Amino acid sequence: MSEPSYQTLLERLARYGQEHVLMGWEQWRPTERAVLAEQLEQIDLDLVRRLWQGELAGQEVQTLVERADSPPGVRLDGTGLPFSPSDARQHGQQLLRRGRVGVILVAGGQGTRLGFPHPKGMFPIGPISKKTLFQIHLEKVLAVGRRYGVSVPIYVMTSPATDGPTRQFLEQHGFFGLPAEDVVLFCQGVMPAVDAQTGKLLLEGPGRLALSPDGHGGLIPAMARTGVLQDAQQRGLEHFFYFQVDNPLTPVCDPLFLGWHGLTQSAMTTLVIAKRHPLERVGNVVSVDGRLYVIEYSDLPDALAHRRKPDGSLLLWAGSIAVHAIRVDFLARMAHQADRLPFHRARKKVPYLDAQGRLVHPDRPNAIKLERFIFDILPYAERAIVVEGDPKECFAPLKNAPGQPEDTPESVQAQMSELYTRWLRSVGVEVADGAPVEISPLFALDAEQLQGKIPPGARISQPTYFE
Ligand code: UTP
Repeated sequence: MSEPSYQTLLERLARYGQEHVLMGWEQWRPTERAVLAEQLEQIDLDLVRRLWQGELAGQEVQTLVERADSPPGVRLDGTGLPFSPSDARQHGQQLLRRGRVGVILVAGGQGTRLGFPHPKGMFPIGPISKKTLFQIHLEKVLAVGRRYGVSVPIYVMTSPATDGPTRQFLEQHGFFGLPAEDVVLFCQGVMPAVDAQTGKLLLEGPGRLALSPDGHGGLIPAMARTGVLQDAQQRGLEHFFYFQVDNPLTPVCDPLFLGWHGLTQSAMTTLVIAKRHPLERVGNVVSVDGRLYVIEYSDLPDALAHRRKPDGSLLLWAGSIAVHAIRVDFLARMAHQADRLPFHRARKKVPYLDAQGRLVHPDRPNAIKLERFIFDILPYAERAIVVEGDPKECFAPLKNAPGQPEDTPESVQAQMSELYTRWLRSVGVEVADGAPVEISPLFALDAEQLQGKIPPGARISQPTYFE
């Protein structure tokens, strides 16, 4: 690679008041200069300036929330849509059998709250097996493929920080039994962190910008840029089952969920849980003028969050758990207009070099990070619905380090064990209270698949792993 020209970089940076980035250039090695030039290549400085100044805020949330209503869709008891659950399940099974469904797993996040020094997917979460999140997810995909006699491709989104270790880990483990050609990794883009007061790009080291992944919404441009979307189209896929790396209870490719999505010809279907109280800290899936939106809890005024329907139930009841079914053609349409997806500004603590070149670890949020969210494509879907799931069955996100009040390794493992205990009891197995149990996805994907696999009347009082 030829040495980048100082003058060219300086001129470009100076146009946006960012020339401080070149501080110390004379002392850098050629490789360091090249790295900075490459980082700058990936960044639209004009966009960053406008975002910092707040010029490109998405549609005013306040104008939306006033008109927010309950979203259309199906409740846990099967009401809400003109189809029966058994029709929906059958339809979903057909989509799977005909090989029309692929999986998207987003695993590009930095996992800062968990504080684990590897990609979060490598966290050993199995309560007994200590299987990693990646192994559990990939085995579910393998088991779905076996159940329906097809190969189900999985597209795993990484980021520059997680890509190398994720590739290495999955290759080392032979993709946990999936054919290598059915596990497609692709890397999302980055955005720079800027100083919240001045809008200046932050440096994490001499000539190294503080960059972070551009949010799970970065999926949209990344799928087009990396050819993943084209791959899905060539395979004849019609729907993606989308989920996040941190939730080991995700009902991957659940035929009932896919069936509701398919039968209603929804472009994007979101799995939601009923909020336990009005101010619960989850994204609210709402309907405004016939379109679905996700409104973050922080943007929902208390008075609106408390609104009730005439029957006394919450009006804005649907909490997002970041599991979606998305039509491939809808995603392709959005990929061609990715610029319409807004960036969200989040205040975060980001270590940076000060004017004297010393690394500062701030003790309060000093920076603005810029992220896109996948659910911002929802309002562009002409037809979209929600499907209510039971949180005990489908939602146990690993977010926080051990010892924190919620969403920790301990709480997630307890929830996994409780779910498997219910499955076992439903087929007549006696499980002593508190005895940890775990079921490999390759043994059974749900209670139905357990039928006939364990002798009736069996008793479990010790930690037991079914594989
Ligand atoms: P979170 O927003 O919970 O972030 O991501 P995180 O990285 O896991 O954890 P914190 O906030 O730093 O502690 C939700 C899901 O979206 C993915 C994550 O990997 C996770 O599966 N994600 C998030 C991406 O793939 N890319 C991103 O840029 C952000």
